[in-house]
This record gives sequence, C-alpha cells and structure tokens, in this order.
Amino acid sequence: MPEQNRPSSRREFLKLLQGLLAAIGASAILGPILAFFWPAKLEDVPSEPVPVGAPDSIEVGESKTIAYGRYPALIINTEEGIRAYSAVCTHFACIVKWNAETQLIECPCHEAFFAAADGAVLDGPAPKPLDAIATFIQDDVLFIGGEA
Ligand code: FES
Repeated sequence: MPEQNRPSSRREFLKLLQGLLAAIGASAILGPILAFFWPAKLEDVPSEPVPVGAPDSIEVGESKTIAYGRYPALIINTEEGIRAYSAVCTHFACIVKWNAETQLIECPCHEAFFAAADGAVLDGPAPKPLDAIATFIQDDVLFIGGEA
C-alpha cells in the first residue's frame, strides 16, 4: 500500500468505527423505548388446545416447557395449581426459564423476573406480565390453550 494512502485509510476506518459506535449507542437508548411501546406479543398461537401430559406429570414446584405454536410455553405446577404462560419475554422476546430454586420465572437476557402465580413482572425491564395461557384437564390429560 502506498505511503500517501495510509492517513486516508486510517481516517475512513475511524469514521466507520465512529458510525458503528453511534449505532450501538442509539440502539441501546432506542431499544428499551421501542420495547415499552411495542412489547413482544404471543402470536401465532395454536387454534386447538395442546396436550401437556398427565396432570401429575409435573411435580409441585417444577415446570415443563412445550412447543405452543411457533413459541414455547412454560407450564408450572405451583402451590396454587397449574399455571401456563408464553415463554416469550415481554421485553425483547427472549425465552424465559423456570428457576425451581427461587420459584421464579427468569429471563436470562436482561434479568427480568416474573411471578409464578400470575406472570406479573417482579423486577427487571419487562414492560408487562407474561401472556397467560388457559389450562384445563380433560380425560385425565392436561391441556393448554383453548377451552374445554
Ligand atoms: S428479553 Fe430483556 S428481560 Fe427478557
């Protein structure tokens, strides 16, 4: 590379780096604002109820994750009974997980915490509770979604 081209290349590289850093900074600021106004939604849910298994197949305090349309659903056997939620975090749509130790639903992406009893946001940046999914038992099978 000729000597005279070096400063220009360096300047172009620094401009590119500056633009990249500005884009990262803008997304860090705009991302949470956009997530507040347009939180992730439970879409493309199955039109028919989805079988989970035998009602006693999930121990109290434990959970099971199953496919529910395009997204996973989290089914938890709480002290108050079976609860089901979309496993899609309402912040940036990461997949939430059940923590049997803390008895909380946790999002690994930005540390949002949700209550097992009603999916309410307990802590973190999630703008709204997890989408609840109806549950029912029919012929000794636990189903989520739809109605009996
Ligand atoms: S995606 Fe950000 S807290 Fe879940």
